[in-house]
Amino acid sequence: MVKLIIDNISVNYNSIQALKDINIKLEKGTMVSIIGPNGSGKTTLLRSIAKIVKPIKGTIYIDNKNLNNIPLKELAHHVSYTSPTFKEGFDLTVGDIVFMGRYPKTGFIMKHTDEEIVNKALNTFHIKHLINRKIEELSDGERQKALLARSLAQEAEIILVDEPLAHLDLKAQLEVLKILKNEANNGKLVIITSHTIDLPAKYSDIIIVMKKGQILAIGKPNEILTEQIIENTYNIKCKIIKNYEYPIVMLLDTISD
Ligand SMILES: Nc1ncnc2c1ncn2[C@@H]1O[C@H](COP(=O)(O)OP(=O)(O)O)[C@@H](O)[C@H]1O
Ligand SMILES: [Mg+2]
Repeated sequence: MVKLIIDNISVNYNSIQALKDINIKLEKGTMVSIIGPNGSGKTTLLRSIAKIVKPIKGTIYIDNKNLNNIPLKELAHHVSYTSPTFKEGFDLTVGDIVFMGRYPKTGFIMKHTDEEIVNKALNTFHIKHLINRKIEELSDGERQKALLARSLAQEAEIILVDEPLAHLDLKAQLEVLKILKNEANNGKLVIITSHTIDLPAKYSDIIIVMKKGQILAIGKPNEILTEQIIENTYNIKCKIIKNYEYPIVMLLDTISD
């Protein structure tokens, strides 16, 4: 079933065109990674799906419902959005933050089942011991895991995570991608952005390559991750090693713009 349709959207921030004529159809049970240089529109695309920014043209449909007609409270059942630039609620504890994921479903009165879901999310990211720690007193990586735990506790059908690998050590990167892939295997549509290509290629069903607010390529990692595409997208020289389980991008040099 098509879960998400992005039908020809463009997004402007005043005079800056951040997205131009974007068309994507994605099914549930899919893990998707968006790659592309800084400023190519990755975050704006996620923010459009989360209804944080409004396209100047085009329409987004979730389960065939026009996003414009879905109230924000209802949207929380459909979409969770996690941003690495989380700034609000810095005096809250990890427990508070993860419980916040349950508000759209339960309001402020938590039931036993909510507590179970929160504990499960904390255990999934191995951060149960941080439950009473203030979010502002955590390392960037610990905070990232707390925000991801909140996203899982929300139990939304579409999970959007902007740069989930930022701040994480190597093991944590693998763990987080495995957890997100598992959510996709359980029927969710998971969409992340990343500056790393290899690891998302290992775990993603689909890669979307963006440049200057447009989609340069979309498809299976093994099919679309070519040296030509990566060189055109990032203005770099690279070698793609394909003998392994997933394509490995070896960076060689820059190319002048
Ligand atoms: N709040 C904003 N106000 C004005 N311009 C913005 C804002 N957010 C992003 N942009 C611009 O939109 C473009 C796309 O940005 P963004 O979606 O953040 O790209 P990415 O996530 O790929 O780095 C860039 O040119 C950026 O400068
Ligand atoms: Mg971004």
